Amino acid sequence: MEVVNNLDDMVKSFFDSAPVLKDADNISNKLSKFINQNASLPGSEGPRRVVCVTSGGTTVPLEQRCVRYIDNFSSGHRGGTSTEYFLKAGYSVIFLYRRGTCQPYCRSLPDDPLLECFKLTNDSSIQVHESHAEAVKSAISGHHDAVSGGYLLKLPFTTIFEYLQILRLIATSLKILGPNAMFYLAAAVSDFYVPWESMAVHKIQSASGPLDMRLAQVPKMLSVLRKEWAPTAFCVSFKLETDTEILLEKADTALKKYKMHAVVANELSTRKEVVILVTESGKVSVSRENSQSDVESPLIKLLVEKHSSYVTDINA
Ligand code: PMT
Repeated sequence: MEVVNNLDDMVKSFFDSAPVLKDADNISNKLSKFINQNASLPGSEGPRRVVCVTSGGTTVPLEQRCVRYIDNFSSGHRGGTSTEYFLKAGYSVIFLYRRGTCQPYCRSLPDDPLLECFKLTNDSSIQVHESHAEAVKSAISGHHDAVSGGYLLKLPFTTIFEYLQILRLIATSLKILGPNAMFYLAAAVSDFYVPWESMAVHKIQSASGPLDMRLAQVPKMLSVLRKEWAPTAFCVSFKLETDTEILLEKADTALKKYKMHAVVANELSTRKEVVILVTESGKVSVSRENSQSDVESPLIKLLVEKHSSYVTDINA
C-alpha cells in the first residue's frame, strides 16, 4: 500500500478510492430543496439558521462484499438529543446519523418500540399500551412537526466512505448560508480505514491463518471543512477521551489546529452528566441540572449564544 502523508493528497486519495456513493443524486436533491426552503424562512435574528448534527459511529469495512467491519462506539444519544434542543431553539437540522442508532424524539421509547409499545386487540386492530401512550404520542408529534414543517432532514450512513462523502455534500450545499450554518460534529469517526482498491473482495478466509492488515489513516476532515467546504460556517467538534488528564489538552489542540469555533470535551463515563465547552475565550463546564434533565439543554443554549455573537461579529 502506498503511504500518503500530505493532507491534500490524503484527502484526494481517500475520496478517489471510496466506492461510489449510492443515491448521491437523490441526497443532493433533498439537500438543495431543504436548504433553499429554509434559506427563505425568517429566524428570530435574521434568516433561519441550519445546523448539521452528525451522530453515531462510522464503520470500516474489511471486505468489499462486507461480512466483517471495524466499528466506532457511539449510541447516537448525544446527536439525537441535541437535535431536539436545536429544533426547540428555532434551528433547522440536517441529521446525519448512523443507521440503527438513537433518533430524535425516540429517547423515551423502549429498545424495541414496535413490539413493546403496541398490542393486538381482540378484533386484530393495533392499540398502544397505556404505559407507553405518552411517550409514543410525544415521539410521533415531535417528529411529525419537525419533518412535515420542513425543519428536519434525516440522512443515514453506515461506513466511513458514506459518512465523509455525505458530509462533503452537506457542507458544500450549506455554503450559501454562510455564517448562518453550523456544524455540530458529534459522530465518532474512524481514524483508520482499508482503501477500497486494496480491500479483499470476498469474505476473508480464516483458514489462511492470522490476519495481517495495514490500515491507512483517515484524513482529519475538520481542516478541509473549515478551509474549503464551508469556510464561514460556525464549527463545533467533539473530543472524546477515557483519560481525563489528557482531555482538555487535546481539546485545546483541536481548537487551534483545526480552527474550530468550539470544541466539546467529554469523558466516556461522565458524558451524559457533564461536558466542557472549550472556545478561544476559555473553558466552561456544562452540567445537567439533575438526573432527569439533559446536559444537551444548557450546552445547546450556550452554543446558540456563541453562534449569535459569531454571526453579529461577521456581519458588523
Ligand atoms: O453517541 P453517544 O453514546 O451519546 O456518545 C457521544 C460521543 C461520546 C460519541 C460524542 O459526545 C463525542 O465525543 N463524539 C466525538 C467522538 C470522536 O470521534 O472523537 P475523536 O477524538 O476521535 O474525534 C474528534 C473530532 O474529529 C470529531 O468531531 C470527529 O468528527 C472529527 N474527526 C475524527 C476523525 C477523522 N478522521 N476526521 C474527523 O474529522
